[in-house]
This record gives sequence, structure tokens and C-alpha cells, in this order.
Amino acid sequence: MSDRNLALDLVRVTEAAALAASRWIGLGKKNDADGAAVEAMRKTFDTVAIDGTVVIGEGEMDEAPMLFIGEKVGAGGPKMDIAVDPLEGTTLTAKGGANAIATLAVAQHGNFLHAPDIYMDKIAVGGGLPLGVVDLDSSVATNLRSLARAKKCEVSDLVACILDRDRHAELIAKCREAGARIMLISDGDVYGVMATTMPDSLVDIYLGSGGAPEGVLAAAALRCVGGQMQGRLLYEDDSQIERVRSMGHADPKKVFTCEEMAKGDVMFAATGVTPGAMLRGVKRFGHGAITHSVIMRSASGTVRYVEAHHNFATKTWTAT
Ligand code: FBP
Repeated sequence: MSDRNLALDLVRVTEAAALAASRWIGLGKKNDADGAAVEAMRKTFDTVAIDGTVVIGEGEMDEAPMLFIGEKVGAGGPKMDIAVDPLEGTTLTAKGGANAIATLAVAQHGNFLHAPDIYMDKIAVGGGLPLGVVDLDSSVATNLRSLARAKKCEVSDLVACILDRDRHAELIAKCREAGARIMLISDGDVYGVMATTMPDSLVDIYLGSGGAPEGVLAAAALRCVGGQMQGRLLYEDDSQIERVRSMGHADPKKVFTCEEMAKGDVMFAATGVTPGAMLRGVKRFGHGAITHSVIMRSASGTVRYVEAHHNFATKTWTAT
């Protein structure tokens, strides 16, 4: 990636989305919160000096008005692919719950896995562990035992983060049977995956299915901070398999590693919307707000936290 200053430009994009979404925190209107974040992110992208193509976005062209897959964004510059989730945690935002973020990732053209908005089965662990310590095709008990061995602890010391969904009943039962503890989250599995890399989060492993787009974003983040992740697309019907084939995947059942989902030099940016373990939420006051963001890059491994103080009276755009 050629432009080192891109980091700050990208943070401005997630800040704009988070600021716009923050007006809707706790108002019970997840679609409005999402719409505000999408619009603000879309507008702010026009100020970034890239020739960007959205490859992970808000949906197909005919179903999403903005930031749809294939949409061109940016003011011109190096050719890049963009993965966005302007509001990861729409329900969290609507309910005022923790860990909602505005997020995006960029990579050189062709380096993100093209994934439609279907489910992906995911497994992730943090950094500093032997390669292959866990595997999507191994049993839950085998993975937990292997992880405990690598971390020199007991399975009962491990915490698995899982989305609280009926479809995970068997997974949850197997984890408990194996002796691990579980942290159920109501939403937000980009955070769930990243939590495996954050010592203070207590999470050792992320397990279960969530959105495939969120899987690619989480893989981009893990590429920057270390950690291992595997994902396999899950299908509800044949049309989804066809869609994935048409996106260029010869084997729709393939297990993708982190490096296959987000190749080469990637940058990942996120701004907290609601308060969370990774980022503080947007703090609004009379004429401004404070945002807390992270921007990281895989090539250098640099992780920057940015606290920005925004003055609405002097901002040139209006998505506040
Ligand atoms: P939204 O922000 O789009 O509502 O997604 C939240 C989320 O929890 C993701 O983090 C996760 O990947 C996905 O929804 C899980 O989908 P589902 O709610 O259908 O289980």
C-alpha cells in the first residue's frame, strides 16, 4: 500500500459512520442507525485518495442503495478493494448494548475473499500459538484440549465466545461438556473474534457461525494483530451456492484461512459506537463529540489508537 497517510483518512471514514450512528443509540431503531452510518461512511469515502471498489459491503447492487458490492468509492488514486461494515452491531446500537463499532478494511485489488451476505462457520484464536492449534474440521473437544495444551492450562481455564443463537445449542453443549466456560454475546462477532487477541477480554477462542462479510473483516483485523482464524461459507439453498460459484469460488465448501480471506498488506480501521472492551463509544456533548478508534496495518503490525475531539460547529460535513 503506497500511501502511509491513508491510515488517518480511513479513520475519518469510520469516525463519520460512528458519529452518525451514535445519534441513534438506544432509540430502538436499528435500520435508522444503520442507514445513518452507511450514508456518512459513503460520503466520507469521497474524500479518500483511492480508486476503491467495495467487495464486502451492504449487499448486492439491487438490494443496497449505497456501499453495495461493486460500487466505486474514493476520490481517485491507487486501486484498492474495500470491505465495510458501517455499523457492526445494529441491534446493539438500537438497544444501547456494548461493542457496536463502525469498521472497514482495505487491501490491494483482488486480496479480499469475495463473500456474499450469507453465514460463515468460524473458529479463531489469538496470537503466539502454534499454527494449526485449532481446526474447523476437528471436534470441539479436540480443539479445546489442543488450545489448553498450547496455553499450558486446563480446558476449564478457557473461555469460548459464541453468538447466543438457537443454532449454536449443540456447539454450546459440546463446549460445556468439554469443560470450557462460555461467554455468550448477543451480536457483534467481529468484536468476538478480535477479543481472542485481547488479554483483558478473557476470551480464548471464538466459535460458531455469523455473517461471512463480518468474517472477512475479522480476518483483516487478525492479519494486523496476529491470531489464527478459519472460515467456511454456509449455505441455506442452492441459489447461494450458485452465487458463490459466480463470485469465482471453485470449491464452495473450502475452508479459508485468515491469510486467504485477507491477503497481502491490509489496513483495518474501527471506531467505537457504543462502549466496549476494545473501543470506547461515541461521547456526545452540546456541540461536539469524542470518538475512539483503532487503525492497524498488517505489513508493519502497527496498531494506533486515535481519540478525536469533534467540533460540530466547524465540521464541514453534516452527518453528526
Ligand atoms: P448487524 O450489525 O448487521 O445487525 O450484524 C450483527 C451480527 O451479530 C454480526 O456480528 C454477526 O456476524 C451476525 O449479526 C450474525 O447474524 P445473525 O444475527 O443472523 O445470527
